[in-house]
Amino acid sequence: MQLPSFSRRRFLEKAVYASGALATHSFSQAVHAAPVPSSIGAEAAAHGILAGCAVNEQGLASDADFRRLVAAQAAIVVPENAMKWRSLRPSPTTFDYSAADRLVDFAEENQLRIRGHNLCWNQALPDWLEGTVNASNAQHLLTDHIRHVVGRYAGRIQSWDVVNEAVNVHDGRPDGLGNSIWLTVLGPGYLDIAFRAARTADPHALLVYNDFGVELDNAEQAAKRDAVFKLVTSLKRNGTPIDAVGIQSHLSATSTDSFGSGLRQFIAGLRRAGFKVLITELDVDDSHVAGDDAMRDRAVAEIYHSYLNLVLDAGVRTILTWGITDRYSWLTEHFPRADKDEARGLPFDEHLRPVDAYWRMVESFGRVRG
Ligand code: G3I
Repeated sequence: MQLPSFSRRRFLEKAVYASGALATHSFSQAVHAAPVPSSIGAEAAAHGILAGCAVNEQGLASDADFRRLVAAQAAIVVPENAMKWRSLRPSPTTFDYSAADRLVDFAEENQLRIRGHNLCWNQALPDWLEGTVNASNAQHLLTDHIRHVVGRYAGRIQSWDVVNEAVNVHDGRPDGLGNSIWLTVLGPGYLDIAFRAARTADPHALLVYNDFGVELDNAEQAAKRDAVFKLVTSLKRNGTPIDAVGIQSHLSATSTDSFGSGLRQFIAGLRRAGFKVLITELDVDDSHVAGDDAMRDRAVAEIYHSYLNLVLDAGVRTILTWGITDRYSWLTEHFPRADKDEARGLPFDEHLRPVDAYWRMVESFGRVRG
């Protein structure tokens, strides 16, 4: 598949600069006359798709160019870390909303929608939790947290990742649940407890179960798809207020397995069962792609394009990338390259210039009838 035609690409390129994302670039002189400002959010919206990205807290607090890029490019944002327990809960009795409020204020000032991430996970927990939580106080601790946090932003946050990554087929339980502090202290009922507390605190927010490792056509991910499907359908059947499933979509440019019929059937099955499906954390690990930046960018962009084509064809209409620029990407730290170079897994590079992935995203959005 080709990139957009030169004239179309040039037009969009002008519009990206005109959007203010790259105000310091010399190109900005020429572009104020660009007829239609363009961005990931706007290009997606033109086709009935809600698109945006995770926002890194450090970038938000200290990098004006980054803030401009996010404001120009995203229609919806989610905090990368600011709403996790570790960030919000300095102690069992206190809340620190400074980073979360900064994100919410920023989004509202720029008329961006907001997702919340996340309310119940086995990671990013404060150090005090393990020594404090037990079978008798756990339910109160969890529901009180959710009541406070969801209640604070009620009516302002469109969707919440209520439970994150609860399934691990390797842990050997028939219900597919993975080992977690919440499972230990509350048993499998912890998911229902969390979803009910979230629904009570904000009856209008879309409540999401979010997970990874369900994208590829291989036996391990097929088993996980199966376990996630059984989990969410059984929760729903038993009256748990769960509305949607988030497919994280941390992909690799060098995976030997691809995505295809397994993911397509998974999404179709979830939608038939009454769930909305969101792509919540899309990015592409290029740590094992050899070659220069141009080769890496092409490999990454190809994954964006084929993946988005698949999920959009399957009816998904919400797409978030996990970051927007390689300047702030968990990939660099978590999947270091042998040459120590930064990851190039997002639609803008570390200099905030759009790369091939950006154009391929736009191209995929363009295939969808608005
Ligand atoms: O809290 C310390 C901070 O005090 C210190 O200044 C900083 C210096 O490096 O480290 C801070 O903690 C880091 C934290 O991010 C905040 O930057 C942790 O070491 C680091 O492990 C943590 O990683 C995050 C990870 O979730 C764990 O919470 C990544 O940024 C974030 O991208 C990643 O996001 C997850 C989603 O929540 C769930 N799905 C997978 C996704 C990628 O792993």
